[in-house]
Amino acid sequence: MDLRKLPGTGTAISPIGQGATRLGTRDRHDRGTVDARIAALRHGIARGLTYVDTAPLYGGGFSEEIVGEALTGIRQRCFLATKVYLDDDSDRASVRRSIRDSMRRLATDYLDLVQIHWPNPFARQEEALAGLEDAVVDGEVRHIGVSNYCAREIHEAQGYLAESRIATNQYEFNLLNRGILEDHRSLAQDVLLIAYSPLNQGRLTASSKQAAVVREIALERGATPAQIILSAVLADGQCVAVVRASSIGHIDDAAGALELLLSPGELDRIRAESPAGPVFISPDEIDLVGTAQMPPYRSLEDAQANSHLLVPSPATLAERLRKDALPMPLRVHRKADGRYIVDTYDPMDQVKKFWAWVMARPSEPIPVYVLES
Ligand SMILES: NC(=O)c1ccc[n+]([C@@H]2O[C@H](COP(=O)([O-])OP(=O)(O)OC[C@H]3O[C@@H](n4cnc5c(N)ncnc54)[C@H](OP(=O)(O)O)[C@@H]3O)[C@@H](O)[C@H]2O)c1
Repeated sequence: MDLRKLPGTGTAISPIGQGATRLGTRDRHDRGTVDARIAALRHGIARGLTYVDTAPLYGGGFSEEIVGEALTGIRQRCFLATKVYLDDDSDRASVRRSIRDSMRRLATDYLDLVQIHWPNPFARQEEALAGLEDAVVDGEVRHIGVSNYCAREIHEAQGYLAESRIATNQYEFNLLNRGILEDHRSLAQDVLLIAYSPLNQGRLTASSKQAAVVREIALERGATPAQIILSAVLADGQCVAVVRASSIGHIDDAAGALELLLSPGELDRIRAESPAGPVFISPDEIDLVGTAQMPPYRSLEDAQANSHLLVPSPATLAERLRKDALPMPLRVHRKADGRYIVDTYDPMDQVKKFWAWVMARPSEPIPVYVLES
């Protein structure tokens, strides 16, 4: 499969990248798991998955440290991407500091791509983008990208850049959630879409019917279901996909997908089983769950106070919705009693999106994808 060009630049990258999430934190991790991930990352790079994605938010910088360790001696072969998170009071200098902290943790003197992790309508965008542009001028950063931005937000951000351009937007895109495609249409030639959670957070497909179609095609092509899905995502979105694959076997699966091109007929068969979009239900019908460390917010006041320091905060996400950002549907399961419960892959992500909706659109039905249990 051909490398994917970053629009308006001479840079081309591997169509499948490796995401470095779920490595733990400096204080809470299992060294055996970390060593296995380092081995998997290095194996992936050897197999052509040379684009690596991390962020200061992943484990509070621990992911960057481990990626830095994994890239010892092979940094030059990689396209190394990280992110910067904009607080309400971020400015030009704090963005530079964040970039330099990332470079230190990653043990590198340049970053190939720095993405603004989330749009923050309370932050001074012009300051943040000026900080990023300074880093490009000084040779610390090669390309500027964003993440979780919808098209309207990208246009606005681009307006704050003097010389550079926004080359990429990392956003959830998989066989379940395809909402960004329509939104991105006006930008298709200008901004490369980087699909995160391309394997639908390990659920792979959107439904058992779609899983059956994927299995059928996998059998016909002598490939694995994950390879068929990655290939479908790449073709459908004309994008790059960043996958979390923790084992050598899963890395080999992803690398194998680079060799696979699906026919238009095969893509149509898979698309025919994708949901047309989210459905809308009353927030009152949804039960929230948290994690062992974090109970979910139970009231609007709790969500506003954001005592878990979730980023983005529910209030930040609510402000985006008030400014007509593309809504981000929740993932829920239907319970035996007819109510719904949020999915547990990343429950606090569901919790903040839930309260953001309730803050911004009180009494309006909320968009959800109902997952098969
Ligand atoms: N910008 C953002 O806000 C944002 C948000 C979310 C994610 N991301 C990025 O996207 C990356 C991936 O996202 P994600 O973890 O949410 O979802 P994902 O890549 O769609 O799914 C990861 C899950 O799929 C499993 N998997 C991997 N290869 C497989 C295979 N061949 N067959 C079956 N299962 C397989 C993984 O298991 P194993 O771990 O056992 O291999 C893991 O449980 C992250 O690492 C991160 O870099 C960015």
